Amino acid sequence: MLLQFSEFVFGVIYVIVAVIAFLIGIVYVKAYDTYILNPISEEFLPSSREQRYSPLKKSIIVNLPWFVLYLLGIITSFFFSFEFLLLGIYSVGITEIIIIFANIVLGTYLFMRFYENDLKKAIVSIIIFQAIYYGIMTFLKLFLEVNLVVFSSIGIYEEVIINYQAYFISLIVITGFTGFYMYWGNKIQLIKWAKFILPIAIIPGLISLSIMFLIEPVDFFNNTALSSIISLVISISIATFVKKLSYRTIPYKELEEMIPLEKDDVLLEVKNLKVHYPLLKGVLKKQIGAVKAVDGVSFNIKTGETFGLVGESGCGKTTIALAILGLVDKNFGDILLKNKSLPPEYSSQIRKTIQMVFQDPDASLNPQMKVIDIIAEPLRNIMGITNKDILRTRVLKLLEQVSLKREHMDRYPHEFSGGQKQRIVIARALACNPELIILDEPTSALDVSVQAQILNLLKDLQKTYNYGFLFITHNLSVVNHIADRIGVMYLGKIVEVGTKKQIFSKPTHPYTKALLASRSEVSEEDREISFILSGEVPSPIAPPPGCSFNPRCYTQSYNDLCKRETPHKIEVEEGHYIWCVNEEVLKDEFDF
Ligand SMILES: Nc1ncnc2c1ncn2[C@@H]1O[C@H](COP(=O)(O)OP(=O)(O)OP(=O)(O)O)[C@@H](O)[C@H]1O
Ligand code: SF4
Ligand SMILES: [Mg+2]
Repeated sequence: MLLQFSEFVFGVIYVIVAVIAFLIGIVYVKAYDTYILNPISEEFLPSSREQRYSPLKKSIIVNLPWFVLYLLGIITSFFFSFEFLLLGIYSVGITEIIIIFANIVLGTYLFMRFYENDLKKAIVSIIIFQAIYYGIMTFLKLFLEVNLVVFSSIGIYEEVIINYQAYFISLIVITGFTGFYMYWGNKIQLIKWAKFILPIAIIPGLISLSIMFLIEPVDFFNNTALSSIISLVISISIATFVKKLSYRTIPYKELEEMIPLEKDDVLLEVKNLKVHYPLLKGVLKKQIGAVKAVDGVSFNIKTGETFGLVGESGCGKTTIALAILGLVDKNFGDILLKNKSLPPEYSSQIRKTIQMVFQDPDASLNPQMKVIDIIAEPLRNIMGITNKDILRTRVLKLLEQVSLKREHMDRYPHEFSGGQKQRIVIARALACNPELIILDEPTSALDVSVQAQILNLLKDLQKTYNYGFLFITHNLSVVNHIADRIGVMYLGKIVEVGTKKQIFSKPTHPYTKALLASRSEVSEEDREISFILSGEVPSPIAPPPGCSFNPRCYTQSYNDLCKRETPHKIEVEEGHYIWCVNEEVLKDEFDF
């Protein structure tokens, strides 16, 4: 009866401890996010992304496995007890003070190197680490003392000790797991941190053992020393395991050089993608409808190919880009990169393989950072390159690629023209040797001559490295200049797809025809706008039934079916398709 009661009390105490450990973890990850992580790519992401990855959510994701593993550890500790792992009571004496001091000096040195002599960052990081480490140790001591009082008073002493060992060992193991889990999403980070885990795990322990041996050589091989050795072995094993695994899973060396891709391989496949933004109302945020921003879009891009996505404002072009990057949730469909599904959320894998260039370079560049730091940031954070000379050489090479010069390296963004700023953004996008680059109206803020320079630059880069480009624009002359194939979008759907030649010389869908007829910039002769499509684009909240273009369709083929039936794919010629209910539309000769 007494034993059952003690188990119950133990259980309660452990659960409380687990909850506290969980809360400490949340504080830790929040501090980690604020002071240590410096995710560059985040600065040019839309605000929705920041909300989705709030530190609290991340903390919970990170700490939940810790919590669960911890509880598992406790349950296990009730079944197995290892008497030979007996540990001494932890107390703060001269040895511990020396360890704390050694840890601070060593840790500061390591972090200084990691942050390239940024003393402030190094000190903040080491204080956080130290505080957590000693917080846990103090807590452990208090925990043991409370246990001793409670259980000695009811005559159970041995069990307290046994459970204490199990607790301590599981704590080390769980901390290792947590560290591993935390960096799992970003394997390059894992490599960098593996360098620290090993010395931080071993050196203080070795110092502590040496001091113990010097002070009490006779009693050295008592339980305390033995248990310290065991915990050291555990730390080393975990650190080595993490290091080995991270090196095995990352083609680290391969990432260091820019490797051209094979041309004409399947790169991106978007299959029946649907993104509906919920429309929320009231305090309770009740969903009252949805904006069907993207409603069943399919296309693919090969390496070395540019797929141009054109369509009026609000037709869902940017939403497609955000869905590929995992920055908005898709409601339906598949997005595959090299035949593998992309993770549904923005991740390190996406960061490495897909880059995005937005319309406004000012919004993408941190005005307080020099160009060298802006371009070096993804090299540091994603590629894991920390050597200053290598970074400088790589940045210089990237600047040359976008026709900027060595002297531009140490300037701030405000010292550049719009076109030059966009070149910096492109250089940064190229830094990690991506496979797909999404360009969302990258030239629309620039004047025509600079536009042409940037477009030519992109084309040259593509020729060398065979990047796939998803080029989003509403400007037909731009898409004519750069795209190999074109998808024409209307109200969340692709209505026509084909090669550039097919679309420009034989536009077939009524909307494409109208779009081309209303263009004004392709050449001198075309400057005259010969046709303006009447009517407004319907709301994507309640698109018209049947073909969503039906309220504006002007062709002879228009009939009642258009209001009822969903358009289907019709082949115009090989590789050239439209979506319409009526095959007659192919014969339609509407002359503008
Ligand atoms: N976060 C959001 N919540 C609700 N609706 C949104 C959200 N973002 C975009 N939309 C709506 O989704 C539709 C598609 O927007 P999107 O930005 O993809 O259009 P776009 O084709 O890129 O337009 P533009 O050419 O003007 O950039 C629009 O009707 C827009 O109002
Ligand atoms: S389905 Fe009807 S309304 Fe839609 S494009 Fe074809 S003809 Fe026009
Ligand atoms: Mg857009």
